[in-house]
Order: sequence, then structure tokens, then C-alpha cells
Amino acid sequence: TKVESKPQTANHTVVGDLSEQIKAATQETHVRAENTDLMTSFQKGQITRTQYKVLLCSLYEIYTALEEALDRNSSHPAVAPIYFPQELDRTEALERDLEFFLGSQWRSKVIVPAATHRYAQRLREIGKVKPELLVAHAYTRYLGDLSGGQVLGKLAQKAMELEGKDGLAFFSFPGVSSANRFKQLYRSRMNSIELSEEQRREVLQEAVDAFNFNIQVFDDLQKMLSVTSESAEKPKGTSRSTPFPPPS
Ligand code: HEM
Repeated sequence: TKVESKPQTANHTVVGDLSEQIKAATQETHVRAENTDLMTSFQKGQITRTQYKVLLCSLYEIYTALEEALDRNSSHPAVAPIYFPQELDRTEALERDLEFFLGSQWRSKVIVPAATHRYAQRLREIGKVKPELLVAHAYTRYLGDLSGGQVLGKLAQKAMELEGKDGLAFFSFPGVSSANRFKQLYRSRMNSIELSEEQRREVLQEAVDAFNFNIQVFDDLQKMLSVTSESAEKPKGTSRSTPFPPPS
């Protein structure tokens, strides 16, 4: 008889692999992220240099925080399987792109909205107190960059009439020869992480939050740009004279 046996489902993947669950859990917010004004500009091939520069600044803040958190926890059992700094790290690529667009003094010109600070703050926090949730953030950014990001890079190049690779290092992953095969490897590594049911639920929630952080960053960036004259592709009565970046 069934004395003291665990519930039959306890160790089974009754609810599927993490990689499938996380995709399903974030499907809706993925659509919302794609439909933000900033991502729409991208997809229409209408991204401006100003939009792209402020996006790079925010991505820099986000990836520095993410990669510091991953580095600090590289041997944590829930991080080690998905730790691929050689293949995925974006910090250096972003530094090169920022130098290209903003010049050698780029560090003093990086400006990010409040939403970006909140996102980076969350990354630092879970790096310290809940490293098992980092997979949600790494998934959201890196698998996104390896998916839609590849098309976006080409659109950005065309829209901004960039020659060669200058300014586009962010989109290029020299350590990944096949994005699709790498994504498969990454998913299988995600699926190898041992998580309690509670932790798994938290990871799924954190992934939804990660998408929402991104949406808030995109929305904040657009708001920031809507009060500058420089962004005025179509200055339909929205032009104001607040300079960007503001004088210091
Ligand atoms: C996957 C497009 C924005 C995160 C994908 C895929 C496409 C795509 C075509 C591949 C789907 C598949 O292989 O089944 C786009 C477009 C975007 C966009 C056109 C905006 C213009 C974003 C943003 C994020 C994101 C802003 C998060 C910050 C992801 C993730 C995946 C993904 C995590 C992997 C899904 C999985 O296989 O589990 N995207 N995306 N995407 N995207 Fe996006």
C-alpha cells in the first residue's frame, strides 16, 4: 500500500520542462513588448539614431547589472548550467557601440530613465538574495537577443545607414555559430536546473516581471524622447525645446 510514499507526481515533469513553461508564461508579455512604440519603430525600419543611442545606454546599465550578478553566482547550482559568458556577454559589445555613437567620453554621457534603474536594481538584488531567479532574466534577454534580435540588427543597420559593423556589436555573437543550435543547448541547460515547485513558480513569475521591466524601459525611453526636439521624425505639434541630454 501507499504508506508514506511521496505523491506520485512529485518528481515528475507533470507540467513540462522549464523552457516550455517559461515560453508559455511569457507569450502574452512578449507580444506586448513587440508592440511597444520603440520596438514598432524598429520593425518598421524607422529607428532613429537618437532612439538607438538611448536604448544602448539603457541596455548597458541592464547588462552590466545582469552580467555582474551572473559572474558573482557562476558556480551557484541554478546559474552554472546557464553560465555562458564567452558566448553571451554583451557588456563589452555595448561599450564598443556606445563609444562609436557617443565618442570616447561616452561614460559621462550615458543617461537612463527611472525604469532602467529599477530593472538594474532588481537584477542586483536577486544576484544577492535569490540567484536561482537569475535564469529568468538571462533567458529573457539572451534568448531574445538570439531570436528577434538578429532581424532587429539588420533593420537597425539599414534604418541608420550604418556601414559595416560599426555600432552594431550588440547584435553580433561571434561565439555563437548557430543561434538556433545554441538556443536548443540553452533550453536543455535550463531544463537541467533543479528547482522546487515553489522556486519554479517564482522563476516563471520573474520572467514575466523581466518582460515587464523591458516594456517599462522602452516606454520610459519613448517618453524621454517625446520631450526632445531631436527625436522629431514627424514633429506633429509635439516639438518642445528641452535639450537632450539636458545640460549639466
Ligand atoms: C523569441 C521576435 C522583442 C524576448 C522571439 C522569436 C521571434 C521574436 C521571431 C522566435 C520565436 C521562436 O523561435 O519560436 C521579436 C520581435 C521583437 C521582439 C520582432 C520586437 C521587435 C523581444 C523583447 C524581448 C524578447 C523586447 C525581451 C526583452 C524573447 C525571448 C524569446 C524570443 C526570450 C525566446 C522564446 C523561447 O524560445 O522560449 N522573438 N521579439 N523579444 N523573444 Fe522576441
